[in-house]
Amino acid sequence: MGSRVRTGTLIEVDPRFGVDPDRLRAEGWTGVFGRPAPLEVEVGFGNGISLIEMARRRPEHNFVGVELYGRGIEKLGKRLAHEGIGNVRIVKGEGMEVLADCFPRGAIHTFHCNFPDPWPKVRHHKRRFVGPALAVRLFDRVRPGGDLFFATDFDCYAYQMRDTFDAHPGFVNRAGSGEFLYRMPDRIVTKYEAKFAARGATIRYLWYRRTEGGGGA
Ligand SMILES: C[S@@+](CC[C@H](N)C(=O)[O-])C[C@H]1O[C@@H](n2cnc3c(N)ncnc32)[C@H](O)[C@@H]1O
Repeated sequence: MGSRVRTGTLIEVDPRFGVDPDRLRAEGWTGVFGRPAPLEVEVGFGNGISLIEMARRRPEHNFVGVELYGRGIEKLGKRLAHEGIGNVRIVKGEGMEVLADCFPRGAIHTFHCNFPDPWPKVRHHKRRFVGPALAVRLFDRVRPGGDLFFATDFDCYAYQMRDTFDAHPGFVNRAGSGEFLYRMPDRIVTKYEAKFAARGATIRYLWYRRTEGGGGA
């Protein structure tokens, strides 16, 4: 575990769904959830609909949602409490920092990122969440054989994501090198996805598998 667990100040969230940094540091995610289980992580969950539905579909997994947006966090906390869902925890923070600070090497079973902010202006591309630095971080934090899922409606961001992960020797594009998926039948449709689909946007899905070998950032 990184020595700087800076997250967990979730004053606006029901404490049952927040993460106590001391506990995380001392006992890891097994202690936070009270059980060992495959860990799925979603960064930028928005209103949290995908986390809720994934947690329902896979009660045998633990889920961690990472988000910067306070209202989304608050809403998700309320829904988890209302629906009695016990296998989700929420971390308020910036995705790259949380990945660095809160997850040891190989801890993540499956990673999700849906419709990250596109930052369309060229001078803002460096602010994009999905890029080479994320690939390096995920190669370290995702277990060998683990899966990574991304979705975007933004063409040039999709190409950047594909080029980044296709070029990294630690990931295999499950759609085939250079390819995207255009349908994922069992997918949970997120709020942004529904909005973009209603406008007729082309949505691209990316699915990568971390190779079995190697490790380390
Ligand atoms: C365009 S919205 C997509 C929300 C949701 N995934 C969906 O598909 O409906 C992007 C979300 O990512 C969050 N976000 C942006 N940058 C982030 C970062 N670096 N770390 C964590 N969350 C981030 C934003 O607050 C926002 O809720």
